[in-house]
Amino acid sequence: MPETMIEIEDLCQSYGRKVAVDHLTLHIPRGMFGLLGPNGAGKTTLMRTIAALMRCQQGAVTVCGASVQKPAAVRPHIGYLPQDFALYPNMTAEGALQYLGLLSGLSAACRRARIPALLEQMNLAEQAHKRVRALSGGMLRRLGIAQALLHDPEVLILDEPTAGLDPEERVRLRALLGELAEQKTVLLSTHVVGDIEASCGEVAVMDGGRLVYCGAVEALRRRAQGKVYETELSHGSLAAFRAHHPVTAVSGTGKSCTVRFLAPEEDPCIGRPCEPSVEDAYLLCVHAAGGERQ
Ligand SMILES: Nc1ncnc2c1ncn2[C@@H]1O[C@H](COP(=O)(O)OP(=O)(O)O)[C@@H](O)[C@H]1O
Ligand SMILES: [Mg+2]
Repeated sequence: MPETMIEIEDLCQSYGRKVAVDHLTLHIPRGMFGLLGPNGAGKTTLMRTIAALMRCQQGAVTVCGASVQKPAAVRPHIGYLPQDFALYPNMTAEGALQYLGLLSGLSAACRRARIPALLEQMNLAEQAHKRVRALSGGMLRRLGIAQALLHDPEVLILDEPTAGLDPEERVRLRALLGELAEQKTVLLSTHVVGDIEASCGEVAVMDGGRLVYCGAVEALRRRAQGKVYETELSHGSLAAFRAHHPVTAVSGTGKSCTVRFLAPEEDPCIGRPCEPSVEDAYLLCVHAAGGERQ
């Protein structure tokens, strides 16, 4: 059995009457673990609860054996990059880390040793003296990860770290996260399937506050076998087709187009079966969960 780093048991979290996390049980092992779900799925609420920033209302969450009910016991184990991470724009990259290190109680000696090493590790050594406002989106995200690593936690919680990055920065960040996960447990949330395919072997899919899948990414893909089809349609009939079939892709520019669609229930008489992608499988998962909720 792999060692469980984060243990979530029957967690329920609400904002007033709005249920954001709904009876969620999840055991996260060491290494890289993906949390995938559409906007509003409850990913940020779950991550804030794990990081002991939101009170656990019902159920139990432990990180490295420490309960989130005791934030002071959990925080040393956790580094957290919030979804809306921002810093004072006039500080330098290094100055910002000094400031955050000071706030989190790191000694001057520890800051002197760790900050240059972290800037190096995050490929930011050349930006150390640049102001935060002059950094690119990717650099800012890497600086955010550096601040999460300041106190050398075992677990990193990164809330949509690739959001808004251009493709090159996204690929670079994925590679960096892969390296980090050799030493740390990295819980990475995203709504982009490609992030999960590139970085994670294991994934939890959330939708509407619920866990709709947990396991290997490849096993998720295989679940869609026999449920993904392609067919040729005229552009004019596409809208009517969409009304009855979940379409995952449309290609072709001539009179007709090739439409890829999900058929969760039965073999459709139209179309030819095709090999599912992880994206097809994810959409199928979320589509099925949406259907159940209606
Ligand atoms: N502060 C809040 N007050 C009220 N509702 C909220 C608040 N934060 C999130 N929600 C709602 O809770 C649900 C889950 O949100 P969130 O955890 O941010 O999901 P995700 O990160 O997957 O997009 C959404 O329906 C969202 O609108
Ligand atoms: Mg979020």
